[in-house]
Amino acid sequence: MSSPRRPVIAGNWKMHKTMAEARDLSRALLAQLGPAELAAEVVLCPPFTALAAVSESIRGTALRLGAQNMHWQTHGAFTGEIAPAMLVELGVSHVILGHSERRQYFAETDDTVARKVESALAHQLIPIVCVGETLTEREGGLTDNVVIVQVQRALQGRTAEEVAGLVFAYEPVWAIGTGKTCEAGEANRVCGIIRDTVGRLFTPAAAAAVRVQYGGSVKAETIAEQMAQPHIDGALVGGASLEASSFAAIARLGLIPTH
Ligand code: PGA
Repeated sequence: MSSPRRPVIAGNWKMHKTMAEARDLSRALLAQLGPAELAAEVVLCPPFTALAAVSESIRGTALRLGAQNMHWQTHGAFTGEIAPAMLVELGVSHVILGHSERRQYFAETDDTVARKVESALAHQLIPIVCVGETLTEREGGLTDNVVIVQVQRALQGRTAEEVAGLVFAYEPVWAIGTGKTCEAGEANRVCGIIRDTVGRLFTPAAAAAVRVQYGGSVKAETIAEQMAQPHIDGALVGGASLEASSFAAIARLGLIPTH
């Protein structure tokens, strides 16, 4: 059976690529992606300084632009921060929120993630909300609980309609940048828990509509099996999104309809 949800594949470039490099990478990607890949939602998330350059390079194409973070306030004395309208003005449509690197190194909390989700939605940005357990939490049998609590808190105050349009990224922290991919069946199980949590907190329709990506050492070799899982609707790709050939291969192999 074919999933009613539109697959979404996002490349999180993290703190990589100068403007010139970002322009080159987006152009190379456009040259390698075919119409089928472009018919899905393929999102490039460069650093803030390269958003304008990438926006320009992909203008008029189906590629979408994402930011890696944002502040929840509209403006103000928040040195070093970026407001939602600043992103929208650059053509940004998606924003990664609560990535584990932000939680770990930049004091991002479930509370700030919730404020950012609210603000992103108010600015018509599609949040890609990252959740996932650390290795210690997994070894302690806490995975399900950690993920449920992160989802619950991120969605505080939201409506079923709002939640239906969200993207979650299940990213086990121990799988990020380590080359250790979470086994596809297990990733599917946790993505299913995210969906069930949305269903419990909101409506079955919101649960059926919300899209859940897997992230953590996604490669061309792993993507087909991951995308074949019923609860996995896409991927958040870090390292393998930094080269046009590997990211294009992931988009190509990942978007062959399997469920
Ligand atoms: P990775 O990163 O693909 O390099 O593991 C994924 C992410 O952090 O979003």
